[in-house]
Amino acid sequence: MEREAELDWIRRFLAHLEAGTTDLAPSELRLSSSLYTSAEHCARERDFVFRRRPVVACFSCELRDVGDFFTLSIGGVPVVVVREAADRVGAFVNLCRHRGGPVAEGRGRVEGGHFRCPFHSWAYSTSGELVAIPEGEAGFDSIERAEWGLRRLACAEEAGVVLVRIEGEDPIDAVEALCGVGPDLRAIDLPNYHHFETRETEWECNWKLLLATFLESYHVFSLHRESVHPWYFSHPMVYDAWRGNVRFPVARRTLVDLATLPEAEWRLADHATIQWFIAPNALISYTRNYLLLWRFYSPVPNRSEVVTSLYCAESVEATGTRKRLANAFDGQMRIAGAEDFVLQETIQRGLDSGALPEVVFGRNEVVAQAFQRSLTDAVPGRREGEGGNCT
Ligand code: FES
Ligand SMILES: [Fe+2]
Repeated sequence: MEREAELDWIRRFLAHLEAGTTDLAPSELRLSSSLYTSAEHCARERDFVFRRRPVVACFSCELRDVGDFFTLSIGGVPVVVVREAADRVGAFVNLCRHRGGPVAEGRGRVEGGHFRCPFHSWAYSTSGELVAIPEGEAGFDSIERAEWGLRRLACAEEAGVVLVRIEGEDPIDAVEALCGVGPDLRAIDLPNYHHFETRETEWECNWKLLLATFLESYHVFSLHRESVHPWYFSHPMVYDAWRGNVRFPVARRTLVDLATLPEAEWRLADHATIQWFIAPNALISYTRNYLLLWRFYSPVPNRSEVVTSLYCAESVEATGTRKRLANAFDGQMRIAGAEDFVLQETIQRGLDSGALPEVVFGRNEVVAQAFQRSLTDAVPGRREGEGGNCT
């Protein structure tokens, strides 16, 4: 975080703590349970949110050298992102133009400078051009190679974040997509972080239920009574929002000690986990020791795909470092999985029954509200979202 924003946040937090108050939304937010259960709404989210808006694909540090690639699914579309040149990352539909084979799997570096489809070995350059049809030239003599390259997608890189959009030819306005969050990520030098590991998990519930567990600390005193609450405040909640993106540190109990120190000695990262939500579906959680990126998606209303990556500011090569990071990753996944996500699966089963027509977010669940409102901007027929200046 930039220094003035850091001090401002701590001042606001301490003032709330002393007064026994918290940031509040103007009103409660009631939502139809069908937002979590309806196949029709899920399809609208896929089309209007995940395919028409830029989403966080990965971080620049995962694609450090030319030819480094990473595959993922965005709104159900298989995608490969690749460093095409030292200063350029590209994104392509990960489907061979012959008959749809995947030209890349997982992550790695392209062999021999080319993607190669496993089905019949059609080869593509890292810029997506079709460069070879081995043993099949005669069978495709009317194919104009220049027109049969991989389908290119809109892609942009900013502040160490790689953004991809499935639909539309217009370039991505990455500064706008990272509105408010970009300066914070530059301040922690995200482009020079190191990728440690990525884990993919699936859960039997809607992606919004999972993501929302990160967006309010109100539940910490209850659901995480033993695991988190001894070290973290459940409230106050203090946040900043910019056009759907949100910054909301969650304070450790040691933060209260800062009240007796001069501001020059205030260091938020020593006393909080700093979280950023990047609309529509990415969550960054930052501590001094490592940083986690969570991405959420539901191909059907009651199933979620979650991709979680852990990064570190220092090199991740040393055995001791790897052990420490693996333990930290295990611990984070254990709390999120066994405490937050398992409960959301139970909630999903309940909502699927149709017995609870609506749910309500309190005024104190202000960031979770902002998240829901950021979706309503994009999905037709929903209410307008919260605004804010992009600085
Ligand atoms: S499907 Fe890719 S080469 Fe045939
Ligand atoms: Fe939680």
